[in-house]
Amino acid sequence: MSRLLFPLIALLAHHTLGDDCGSECMAATFLQHQHQIAARVRTDPAARELMFREEPWSAADCEEAPWMCEAPFDCINSTGQVESWEKVLKRLAKPSGVNMQGWCYAGSPFYKPARQCLATRDLHGYAESMLQFSHDYKTEEFDASYCFMSGHCQNLQVTSNSTLLEAEAICDERYGGPDGWRSVGLGQFPQLPPWKYLWDSADQKDVDIFVILSCAMGNYHCDVNYCHETYCAMESYKKKYQHLAPTLQGGFQ
Ligand SMILES: *[C@@H]1O[C@H](CO)[C@@H](O)[C@H](O)[C@H]1NC(C)=O
Ligand SMILES: *[C@@H]1O[C@H](CO)[C@@H](O)[C@H](O)[C@H]1NC(C)=O
Repeated sequence: MSRLLFPLIALLAHHTLGDDCGSECMAATFLQHQHQIAARVRTDPAARELMFREEPWSAADCEEAPWMCEAPFDCINSTGQVESWEKVLKRLAKPSGVNMQGWCYAGSPFYKPARQCLATRDLHGYAESMLQFSHDYKTEEFDASYCFMSGHCQNLQVTSNSTLLEAEAICDERYGGPDGWRSVGLGQFPQLPPWKYLWDSADQKDVDIFVILSCAMGNYHCDVNYCHETYCAMESYKKKYQHLAPTLQGGFQ
């Protein structure tokens, strides 16, 4: 999840609102917009569907997000044989590495960031998309605490130019071993149903699982850069969460 935050937030707010709105009007409209979304998400029992889809892809879905039906995701192809939900629940990554077909089971808000992270490799764009997501769905506290508690803010190995291969090497170093990221399944995702827990700050157990899953899905480096570009650089979140950052060794400073 990244960046020079305040200017970016202003930019995003501006985007959402159009031009003929002064700064006070913009702030008010932006707040209103947030409240509307918050109210909708709060009362929407289907909110978890934003996070996951369990049904197989169809040709119609491919029209909405055509890149998800091509390499590297390949959510539907002429044989249509994406690994089953049951299988990815048990085990996502392969001994050979990241399984990008995990994204075929992500909710539709993630198709764009998935593309930016893994297809077009636009890590800055990913950061922008994830920041927008965290505003739209009120996951700022979760993401901000995640950024600090995961050690991403202190991680100087990852930059906006980092590659998937580099990410896999870092993941091996930090989360290797027989129960590490190469054997994790989507079933280990914490508490599938309640959306609400994503509105509060994360606890360390959630953070560890999210990091390992990001290794398996291939967005570890994109998340670290997202954190760098956003929450790690925001004073208010530094005050709140920096003391929860782990003491890291080996490759971290
Ligand atoms: C379809 O996807 C499966 C699973 O990734 C793969 O094994 C198969 O080769 C793909 N088929 C084609 C025609 O691309
Ligand atoms: C990323 O690569 C570009 C082009 O090589 C370079 O200009 C830029 O400084 C690099 N950024 C980082 C953070 O390493």
